[in-house]
Amino acid sequence: MSDVAAAALVEPPLGLLAELTHRCPLRCPYCSNPTALTRAAEELDTATWARVFGEAAALGVLHLHLSGGEPTARRDLPALVRAASEAGLYSNLITAGVLLDAARLEALAAAGLDHVQLSVQDAEPGAADRIGGMAGGHARKLEAARLIRAAGLPLTLNAVVHRQNLDRLPGLIALALELGAGRLEVAHVQYHGWALANRAALLPSRAQLDAAAATVEAARAAHRGRLVIDHVIPDYHARRPKPCMGGWGRRVLVVSPAGKALPCHAAESLPGLQFPSVREASLAAIWHRSDAFNRFRGTAAWMPEPCRSCERREVDFGGCRCQAFALTGDAAATDPACALAPHRALLDRALGEAAAGDARLADRAFGRPPPPRRRGGHGPRRRGSCRRAR
Ligand code: SF4
Ligand code: FES
Repeated sequence: MSDVAAAALVEPPLGLLAELTHRCPLRCPYCSNPTALTRAAEELDTATWARVFGEAAALGVLHLHLSGGEPTARRDLPALVRAASEAGLYSNLITAGVLLDAARLEALAAAGLDHVQLSVQDAEPGAADRIGGMAGGHARKLEAARLIRAAGLPLTLNAVVHRQNLDRLPGLIALALELGAGRLEVAHVQYHGWALANRAALLPSRAQLDAAAATVEAARAAHRGRLVIDHVIPDYHARRPKPCMGGWGRRVLVVSPAGKALPCHAAESLPGLQFPSVREASLAAIWHRSDAFNRFRGTAAWMPEPCRSCERREVDFGGCRCQAFALTGDAAATDPACALAPHRALLDRALGEAAAGDARLADRAFGRPPPPRRRGGHGPRRRGSCRRAR
């Protein structure tokens, strides 16, 4: 098929998630990075990223998310932001904030950065530093938030929530207001990579979730016009799955630190797919013609029952392929987050394991993957053998 014919069949992506590096001074046990992390020597260089940003804009991408790892670990970040700005992309820096100072923020603002999304691990400093694995990290984040606002940049606070901090959601909302954030994302952990290995210690209970939903509703009413709060029910407690990434190969593409183009951040966990490199192919060719991006696109032949004849198949596209594979061993299976899925019982079993109360966590680290999991929702084999007990 020619490029022109292929382009007519597939809508362009709206967003590019550029994972600039896997390096990060924090060690969050729910990190969405793959358990085999890319080292600095394998990362794309400045010129290649700049070319990729230009190709993204030409393809139709509007939003560029500069992520990691910790993207500020890249010394060339201002040059990358400038390249994005010159390509006409709206740039959003997704950062832990602990490496930012006034000079770096001024350089990023001067280079054309449009928005900053700052993550926090908790509202309580001791608990936040424990999860992030960095003494004093929370205090650095608070200072980063002040500097972001002083640089005139809009701020979104991204609070990753789970069983060990969800009860402090009121404090996280108060923190967002205090820091001058315009938006708070109450982001439940997604159970891929490191988070899947630590699932039994992180899954919240239904009672916690119900309390959080009530807290969010009350805060939305109290702070309307000042703070927007995003909160969606996490998969393990939902009746229907979400359209992961807006659908496979439909809205977003991800480029890994080493240059692999992926339909989602966890796609490399799926067997049998060859992901093209931006070192060797253009984004347009990858988006329109690669086997990997076409494998689970739309609702074509790959989709099994009950999805194939379901009225929601164009809404959620059968849920998340990576979650389906991680839990069932079949990437084409209906996501067990759906109550109609044949494998739904796996989620209920995982919730039962979490309710048993194991709170120990394995940290994210280079060269040391977490303990292997058995397929089908069982917890880590070596309970309590984490490198850093909590
Ligand atoms: Fe979505 Fe498939 Fe469940 Fe229907 S059966 S709601 S398409 S996951
Ligand atoms: Fe890969 Fe959902 S994370 S499809």
